[in-house]
Amino acid sequence: MTRLVKLGILLVLVLLIAGEVLGKTHKHATRKSKTKNHKHIKHPKNIKPPKKPSIIKSIKVAPTPKVSPTPSPSPSPKVVAPPQKGIPQPTSTKSSSIVAKTPQPASNGKNICRSYSQNFSEARIVEHTDYQNDPKTADWINLSGTKGTYSLDGGNLNMILQPPSSYEKITTQYHPYNSKLGTGLTLNSTYMIHYGKVSAKIKSSSLGGVVTAYITMSPNGDEIDWELVGNDTLHAQSNWYWNGVIEWGVHGGMHNVTAPGISDEFKTYTIDWTPEAITWLINGSPVRTLKQSDTLVDGVPHFPNHPSYIQLGIWDGSGAPGTAEWANGPIDWSQQKTNPRTLVSEIEIECDPTWNQVIN
Ligand SMILES: *[C@@H]1O[C@H](CO)[C@@H](O)[C@H](O)[C@H]1NC(C)=O
Ligand SMILES: *[C@@H]1O[C@H](CO)[C@@H](O)[C@H](O)[C@H]1NC(C)=O
Ligand SMILES: *[C@@H]1O[C@H](CO)[C@@H](O)[C@H](O)[C@H]1NC(C)=O
Ligand SMILES: *[C@@H]1O[C@H](CO)[C@@H](O)[C@H](O)[C@H]1NC(C)=O
Ligand SMILES: *[C@@H]1O[C@H](CO)[C@@H](O)[C@H](O)[C@H]1NC(C)=O
Repeated sequence: MTRLVKLGILLVLVLLIAGEVLGKTHKHATRKSKTKNHKHIKHPKNIKPPKKPSIIKSIKVAPTPKVSPTPSPSPSPKVVAPPQKGIPQPTSTKSSSIVAKTPQPASNGKNICRSYSQNFSEARIVEHTDYQNDPKTADWINLSGTKGTYSLDGGNLNMILQPPSSYEKITTQYHPYNSKLGTGLTLNSTYMIHYGKVSAKIKSSSLGGVVTAYITMSPNGDEIDWELVGNDTLHAQSNWYWNGVIEWGVHGGMHNVTAPGISDEFKTYTIDWTPEAITWLINGSPVRTLKQSDTLVDGVPHFPNHPSYIQLGIWDGSGAPGTAEWANGPIDWSQQKTNPRTLVSEIEIECDPTWNQVIN
C-alpha cells in the first residue's frame, strides 16, 4: 500500500516536472521564432530588391526609334544582355520594303550635300512609295506606316503620334507597358551629309512615353542622336553609334536644360560633326563633345564617319517595361483627348565643303 502511494506520488511529480520542462521549451521555442520573425520584418534589407537597370541601359533597350515605322518590341530589362560589343542594329531599323539607292557621289568622289535652311511651310515631303531616287525632287521622304502622322501648319512640321487601335496596359512586377503601340513618324532626308552642322528648332511633346528623335544615320549604321523624352522637360539626351555596333549603355548622354523646358518652348538642337569631333549644342551652347581620338579601339576609330541621312521622328516608347520606364511611359491613351505631337519649326543644314560637293 505505502509503496503504491509512494509510487503514485513519484509518478505525479515526474509528470509535473516533465510538464514544466516541456512547457518551458515550448514557450522558449515560440519566443525564439517570434523574435526571428520580428527581426525578419525589421530588416528587409536582407532581401535583395530586384536590380533596376540604369537609365543608360534602358536607353539601349529602346528600339532604335525613329527609323522604324513599327518598332519591334524590345526585351524587358530582365532579359537584357549584359554590356557587350558587336550586337548588330535591331532588325527593325533595317526596315522592310524601304530600300532606296544611296545617292551617287559627285565626280570628284565627294558626297553631294545640300546646304539650306527652311521652315516647313514650303518643305517638300514625298511618300516613300512615290520617291524615284532623285534627291532634287524632294526634301524629305515620309517613311511612316500610317495616315496622319504629320501635318504642316503655320511653318511648322507637326510630328504626330497616332493612337493604337486599342489600349491595353500590362502590369509587370518591374514596370508597366502597353500591348499595342501608337504609330509615329520618320522623315528621311533625301540628301546625305558627310560632316557639317545640322540644327533643328524643336518643341517636343510633354507626354510621358512619347519620344522625339532627331538623328543622323548612315546606311551602315553610324548614328548621331538627339532624343527628347516626354514628361522630362528639363533634360535632353544625346547618343551615338558606330557602324551598327551597339555598345550597351556606354554612349548615352543626359543633359540639363534650363527652364523653360524642352516642351515649353522651341530650342535649337545642333549636331556639329567634324572628322575630329562631334559636338552637341543647345541654343548654341555646347553640352557635349566626343573626340574621334577617344574612340580608338586597337588604333581604329569607332567614330561616325560615313555620309548620313538626317531623320526626324516621333515614336511611342510604351512597348516594353524598360523602354517605358526610360520614356516615362507607358502612355495612358484613355486620358488623351488630342494626339501627342512634337513641333519642328526650322532646320538648317551646313555641309562641310572639304568633304561634300555642296549644292544649294
Ligand atoms: C505618310 O506615309 C503613310 C504610309 O505610306 C501614308 O499613309 C500617309 O498618308 C503619309 N502622309 C502623312 C501626312 O502621314
Ligand atoms: C517660312 O519661310 C518662308 C521663306 O523663307 C517665309 O516667306 C515665311 O514667312 C516663313 N514662315 C514662317 C512661319 O516663318
Ligand atoms: C532612309 O535612311 C536610311 C538610313 O537609315 C537609309 O539606309 C535608307 O535607304 C533611307 N530610305 C530612303 C527611302 O531614303
Ligand atoms: C509628368 O506627369 C505627371 C503625371 O501625369 C504630371 O503630374 C506632371 O505634371 C508631369 N510633369 C511634367 C514635367 O511634364
Ligand atoms: C544637372 O542637374 C542636377 C540637379 O538639378 C545636378 O545635380 C547636376 O549636377 C546637373 N548636372 C550638370 C552637368 O550640370
